Amino acid sequence: MINHQKDFKHSLKIYIAGHTGMVGSACWRALEASGYSNLIGKTSKELDLRNSQKVYDFIASEKPDVIIDSAARVGGILANDQYPYNFLMENMQIQNNLIGAAHELDVKKFIFLGSSCIYPKLAPQPLKEEHLLTGSLEPTNEWYAIAKISGVKLCQAIRKQFKKDFVSLMPCNLYGPYDNFDLETSHVLPAMLRKFHMAKLTNNTPVTLWGSGKPMREFLHVDDLASAVVFALENRLPDYLYNVGAGSDLTIKNLAAIIQDQVGYKGTVIWDSDKPDGTCRKLMDSSKMVALGWKPKYSLELGIAQTYYWFLKHQDTFKQVKL
Ligand SMILES: NC(=O)c1ccc[n+]([C@@H]2O[C@H](COP(=O)([O-])OP(=O)(O)OC[C@H]3O[C@@H](n4cnc5c(N)ncnc54)[C@H](OP(=O)(O)O)[C@@H]3O)[C@@H](O)[C@H]2O)c1
Repeated sequence: MINHQKDFKHSLKIYIAGHTGMVGSACWRALEASGYSNLIGKTSKELDLRNSQKVYDFIASEKPDVIIDSAARVGGILANDQYPYNFLMENMQIQNNLIGAAHELDVKKFIFLGSSCIYPKLAPQPLKEEHLLTGSLEPTNEWYAIAKISGVKLCQAIRKQFKKDFVSLMPCNLYGPYDNFDLETSHVLPAMLRKFHMAKLTNNTPVTLWGSGKPMREFLHVDDLASAVVFALENRLPDYLYNVGAGSDLTIKNLAAIIQDQVGYKGTVIWDSDKPDGTCRKLMDSSKMVALGWKPKYSLELGIAQTYYWFLKHQDTFKQVKL
């Protein structure tokens, strides 16, 4: 029995699209740790997923049993605002090419990754899957969100019409190894971590952080998302869409206090309330996924400590995405 399981895990061919990214690399690590050894990945230089013929040919020749789609053009408010065409078009191209080829070439399972930005700006909190398409989107990232919504819907349509196991997972804010640590373009958690670290090295000089510190956010370690991906791989999930979050949120001020503590920064924090706060709260309801048996393992303290350790070990190589 155990050997059968091992053989199965060895033979199941899994293509992780976007395996060099924060999410894709976490999926790769989690699958390897769970015993899956037949993993394939291509960088964007090796295979540009915007090119439909190349994607089709690749899937036709490799014949993966499973595709995990963690490839996307990602970015913050500024990038979305400056490159709306690219965010809408490239993300639709990437996912359409992958989903279309997977369907036509009979890939058994497809796991599509999106983000909580698919939900309406004013949807009730915590955000539930059923809130999809019940109101207007946050205008600053609607380009990206519309592409992701069309990916969710495409997988749902294939599931409905052809009864195939195509499923979408929507994570909250993620953090962890291989995050983007650029001070201009990164998300709040890696930006704070780097700022506190740099200030610690310069005799605990004051650190200025954006906004009032009052908005509330939810953060999930990327390895916990990867465990949800493994869970979705090993179980036929009964519905088409699942939120994947930590289940609780905290203020940005409290987040700063935890990071400050983990980094060992002893200076003063200045809150620049002239800078925008963004949405006051964004918490997902992940109870549908939790009810099936998945749950996150990392506390925020442990996750940040692990991320800081990783950051220190990769100071010369960590990713800094430029606009
Ligand atoms: N980060 C978060 O906080 C967060 C939160 C919620 C959801 N997500 C979702 O998770 C997914 C991955 O995010 P991430 O943070 O891992 O992003 P990331 O670190 O920027 O990685 C993006 C990946 O996509 C690949 N890619 C981009 N354009 C491509 C193209 N034209 N052809 C081939 N590959 C291409 C990149 O490949 P190369 O490196 O080879 O260029 C890279 O492997 C996205 O769908 C995102 O919505 C992320």
